[in-house]
Amino acid sequence: MSRYSVLDLRKKADNDKLVMITAYDATMARLVDRAGVDMVLVGDSLGMVVQGHDDTLPVTLDEMVYHTRCVSRGLERAHLTADLPFLSYQISPEQALASAGRLMKEGGAQSVKLEGGERSAEAIARCVEAGIPVVGHVGLTPQSVHAFGGFRVQGRSRDDAEQIVTDALAVQQAGAFCVVLEGIPAALATRITATLQVPTIGIGAGADCTGQVLVCTDMLGMDLSFAPRFLKRFAALEDTIIEAVGTYADEVRTGVFPGPEHAFGGAPAAVPLAKLP
Ligand code: KIV
Repeated sequence: MSRYSVLDLRKKADNDKLVMITAYDATMARLVDRAGVDMVLVGDSLGMVVQGHDDTLPVTLDEMVYHTRCVSRGLERAHLTADLPFLSYQISPEQALASAGRLMKEGGAQSVKLEGGERSAEAIARCVEAGIPVVGHVGLTPQSVHAFGGFRVQGRSRDDAEQIVTDALAVQQAGAFCVVLEGIPAALATRITATLQVPTIGIGAGADCTGQVLVCTDMLGMDLSFAPRFLKRFAALEDTIIEAVGTYADEVRTGVFPGPEHAFGGAPAAVPLAKLP
């Protein structure tokens, strides 16, 4: 079975919602692939949910390549896209191409995602020209968290909303095959989705996008203290994991685990008698 190509995704998007989710390692990749998602994103959100940083800015290209390679080994069907991290593409279009090339050659990504609208158009065009499919990302772009003064919904004023429409069009014009719309009012996402020819993938952008994306650890409820409005939890793994590991600890301490069924049979190994002095 081969992974969905950009062409497959385009066809799918004509009739169906696209389903994207993040993954950062081979185990999660295998599970989300079996669940039937269309696209797996190795997001630079790994800086927060894997590395424990407050934002995505410290993530390096080497780290993205490493996690992309891990995820790649777990996927059979889903399309694999990977984020270009902060300052791996903003310096020049040539830098963007070189960084994107590493995610493809060393990481096994089939496409790359980068943040920004008009300001990133040249970088997108350079990658596309070299045969690298690109996912755009506009609205609340987390790598600009300091410019935004926090992780805030964008596009609430008329001017900001117009700029986001312009950004989405610029990204499409530069050749992106789909665009993530993050943290914008639903009505604005509806308008952008109706305006663009390429699919939109929403997160905190309402129901009218062509598809949706969520961070795997968020939607699985692995940190129940994280509860933004846009998030729906489909499980509460934080509780499940704490309970399971607590039970394991109790059983080890009380001698219940391992039981005879977990021990290997067979003749005792020939253990030399302790040497007498
Ligand atoms: O880094 C990430 O996980 C993302 C998604 C939330 C869109 O960019």
